[in-house]
Amino acid sequence: MKVLAILYDGHKAALEEPRLLGTTENKLGLHDWLVSQGHELVVSSSKEGPDSDFQKHIVDAEVLITTPFHPGYLTRDLVEKAKNLKLCITAGVGSDHIDLNAAVDHKIQVLEVSGSNVVSVAEHVVMSILLLVRNFVPAHEMIERGDWQVSDIARNAFDLEGKVVGTIGAGRIGYRVLQRLKPFDCKSLLYYDYAPLPEAAAQAVDAVRVEDLKQMVSQCDVVTVNCPLHEGTRGLVNDELLKHFKKGAWLVNTARGAICDKDAVARALASGQLSGYAGDVWNVQPAPKDHVWRTMKNSLNGGNGMVPHYSGTTLDAQARYASGTRSILDCYITGKPQEPQNIIVGLGKYESKAYGQR
Ligand code: NAI
Repeated sequence: MKVLAILYDGHKAALEEPRLLGTTENKLGLHDWLVSQGHELVVSSSKEGPDSDFQKHIVDAEVLITTPFHPGYLTRDLVEKAKNLKLCITAGVGSDHIDLNAAVDHKIQVLEVSGSNVVSVAEHVVMSILLLVRNFVPAHEMIERGDWQVSDIARNAFDLEGKVVGTIGAGRIGYRVLQRLKPFDCKSLLYYDYAPLPEAAAQAVDAVRVEDLKQMVSQCDVVTVNCPLHEGTRGLVNDELLKHFKKGAWLVNTARGAICDKDAVARALASGQLSGYAGDVWNVQPAPKDHVWRTMKNSLNGGNGMVPHYSGTTLDAQARYASGTRSILDCYITGKPQEPQNIIVGLGKYESKAYGQR
């Protein structure tokens, strides 16, 4: 069996830190195990264009392992060329880089390591909310510059206590964000999701469901995006929706870059409709050097909390998604049933309800 893994290069860091499992150097810890069973493992970071290793090896690979942090984009075109492909494994959570409808049509199964990095992301969301609301980044930059002007920072710094926070998507990550926000004594915690939380779960965090997205965002001081990217969420936060945000709201998106319209967000930050935008996900990854989200600022030279895509790839998360990837492979090889929560696309149909209402 040929297994193709598209991972990010770790270079020096991966050689010095073996727990960087999700790198081309450390190969998710799968190499010796797979090879000892007579399988072939091809690992590469080269993923763009017809001469990439991804496009060269996809034609006869049986299993494809990808990671959202360095996504190998499996388009319908490539699915059609991948004559042997039976299984796609996402080492992590979020399989939007795979054309899931094409996988359904070609009876290619798509599995994720569900839950493997949801705490890692939820912690990052809470950190990002705080760093925007408290105006942390410009304060730190001022210190590095050697300056000290408290009023320049304090004029745009607030407490999270007493604010309204809403999440678009209240699944594993969205719910964990709500749980972590509860002790901050926000004025209210809202959520928008076509799948309502079980009553006891909603009560445990005092979360209120709002059925209309415009209505929800119009009440929020902070909006956090925690739903998958699919046909129904691509470009969801655009000029039109941003008009309904409370003026000066903060927006945090660690779900997928393309859920927010890149230029609409930059415009909203420049006009003051948003006070800040933070997250780790980009519409194209790696993000080009001139991507507007790298340098956009509000009128007070702050409000940007962007980082590379790493919230779900902490060393703790890598241990979990590497071991989960191995379990999925082991089930596939030995014919054991897969954990139901990991199956996004089964044989010819969606098994998950999270990738849109169908
Ligand atoms: P989940 O499947 O547990 O929850 C997703 C929730 O979103 C579900 O409750 C679903 O009903 C809801 N949803 C789907 N479409 C919606 C829509 N149009 N409007 C409102 N809600 C909608 O998934 P989980 O584990 O919470 O992850 C969510 C997403 O976070 C992933 O799909 C991935 O894109 C992203 N993620 C990002 C990571 C990072 O490193 N930045 C790491 C892990 C996940």
